[in-house]
Amino acid sequence: DIKGFAFDLDGVIADSARLHAKAWHQTADEVHSEWTPELAEALKGVSRMDSLEMILKAGGHENDYTEDEKVALATEKNTKYLKLVESLTPDDVLPGMKAFLDELKASGYKMSVASASKNAPAILKQLKITDYFEGVVDPAKLHAGKPDPEIFSLAAGVMDLAPEVVAGLEDSGAGIKSINAAGELSIGIGNQLTEADVRFADTSDVSLAAIKDKLA
Ligand code: G6P
Ligand code: MG
Repeated sequence: DIKGFAFDLDGVIADSARLHAKAWHQTADEVHSEWTPELAEALKGVSRMDSLEMILKAGGHENDYTEDEKVALATEKNTKYLKLVESLTPDDVLPGMKAFLDELKASGYKMSVASASKNAPAILKQLKITDYFEGVVDPAKLHAGKPDPEIFSLAAGVMDLAPEVVAGLEDSGAGIKSINAAGELSIGIGNQLTEADVRFADTSDVSLAAIKDKLA
């Protein structure tokens, strides 16, 4: 039986995936790489520097910039992103997720955050939901990002739970792979996530009853 839930943040709890995409789109334009829906989807769950590499590669520009210039481009993206994030309020918790967090809390489930974002603690604070979670995995300490299982294994550790009793929620393909490799139950937000154990079209569909229904 599931005893804890490990949450991705951007695109699962926070309506911030669109803000990452908006800021990266500007970077893509700047380096003359084409911004496509496929690229936008592939960037979900990917770390800041790896995202930049993927954007440069999309236009064949990976060798056109020095390491220092790449760091500058990534820093510039983060500055733009943080500017966009300033406008987030508790109303930007994605539909249904506040109710789901409340349901989990009331039912005694543990919760933790498994986000690749170094901005995750700031966003939780802005959405006023920090206190729901036992803790947040620090992505700076990871040896490998999603799809590696490390982040979701650590998220189980934060809750003091074995992976077998943890469910992970994700909106990215890389994240679902990470959850599956960690030996946890994978819950995908988005019908394209064919590798997820359980899939929901939208955050508003997620509840304990709906998860049980899909597993039955
Ligand atoms: C999440 C998002 C990605 C983002 C990554 C790093 O996984 O889905 O879009 O690139 O975090 O975020 P950061 O805020 O540290 O640049
Ligand atoms: Mg995400």
